[in-house]
Amino acid sequence: MNKEEQLAALQTYFSLMSMNGGMRVFCAAQQAGIFNALGNGATTPAAVAQACGLKGRPVKLLLDGLCGLKVVEQKDGAYVPAPVMGFLSGAYNDLGGKYWDHLPAYLKSGVPMARMDNLAESEKQYRAQVMALDWMMRPSAEVAAAMLGIGRKMKGLNILDVGAGSGVWSLTFLKNDPTSIATALDWPSVLEIARASAGKLGLADRFKILPGNYHEVTLPAESFDLVILGNVTHIETEMRNKSLFGKLHAALKPGGKIVIFDVFGSQEKGVLEAALYALGLALRTERGEVHPMDRLQSLLSEVGFRNAVGRPIEVTPHTMGMLLADK
Ligand SMILES: C[S@@+](CC[C@H](N)C(=O)[O-])C[C@H]1O[C@@H](n2cnc3c(N)ncnc32)[C@H](O)[C@@H]1O
Repeated sequence: MNKEEQLAALQTYFSLMSMNGGMRVFCAAQQAGIFNALGNGATTPAAVAQACGLKGRPVKLLLDGLCGLKVVEQKDGAYVPAPVMGFLSGAYNDLGGKYWDHLPAYLKSGVPMARMDNLAESEKQYRAQVMALDWMMRPSAEVAAAMLGIGRKMKGLNILDVGAGSGVWSLTFLKNDPTSIATALDWPSVLEIARASAGKLGLADRFKILPGNYHEVTLPAESFDLVILGNVTHIETEMRNKSLFGKLHAALKPGGKIVIFDVFGSQEKGVLEAALYALGLALRTERGEVHPMDRLQSLLSEVGFRNAVGRPIEVTPHTMGMLLADK
């Protein structure tokens, strides 16, 4: 090893130690009720220790570790929850812990712990998940709207958002172009969430819903200018993606476009995130798969799309990309 390689190896060692230690600190704090105590107004190590029935000095050391992790902040000598704690609530407060706990069993059996892509479970699973996807994807949706020129180059669109979830992609596009309208296609109870989101954003009058299974629902022919498939291709097999692409091709007006947003793993900053995403997907779906962009490009061209071009969406989480093609 030369000096540079030695330093890089040392850096990797320290990163691993920090990842491991950081997660232990976070989990210990959660189990001990530290975040609840902070949320209830305890601001000193002594007050947190008393609220949780713990010792003062270890709590002080733990709080400093949490500050290093940026989940707690110090303001005027007081320890307070950092903004990220707003995301760490509900199903996401364990940072996917229950999926990762299943990893040793998955390695032996190849059997996932959940089947989010199974038709019988899909609606219930996604009803619980799509609002989290909403805040995760919002910056990506804003950047994508700018990349596509929504409200500038692309205006007055009739948009179909397939597997819309919270509607994060289409609602962001509507916000950027007051002359576009959108139809969200998803399971009925998921669409209630999207509709509420449209209402909150003052976009309800331009946002329609189409409840049903996107493989089965009848779509009007040659009606849409833009079809969005956001985070859908990875829950479908190649064959099912191809048949969905064909169906969406028929629903687009001549000259219309399809845009696919998904994890494409092409950004240096998101290499670990994309690999963990693919593994996490395998832990919670039966057939979920992060499809390489060039495979999706081929499938698009096989059903008649042209000029399929992929680009990274360079914003956190740095895993997302968009694939745009013309009818
Ligand atoms: C991973 S989520 C993506 C949601 C949203 N597009 C986003 O990017 O945040 C996949 C969405 O597809 C919906 N979905 C999955 N299978 C479906 C099907 N066969 N028919 C209709 N919707 C389906 C789920 O309910 C969920 O809202």
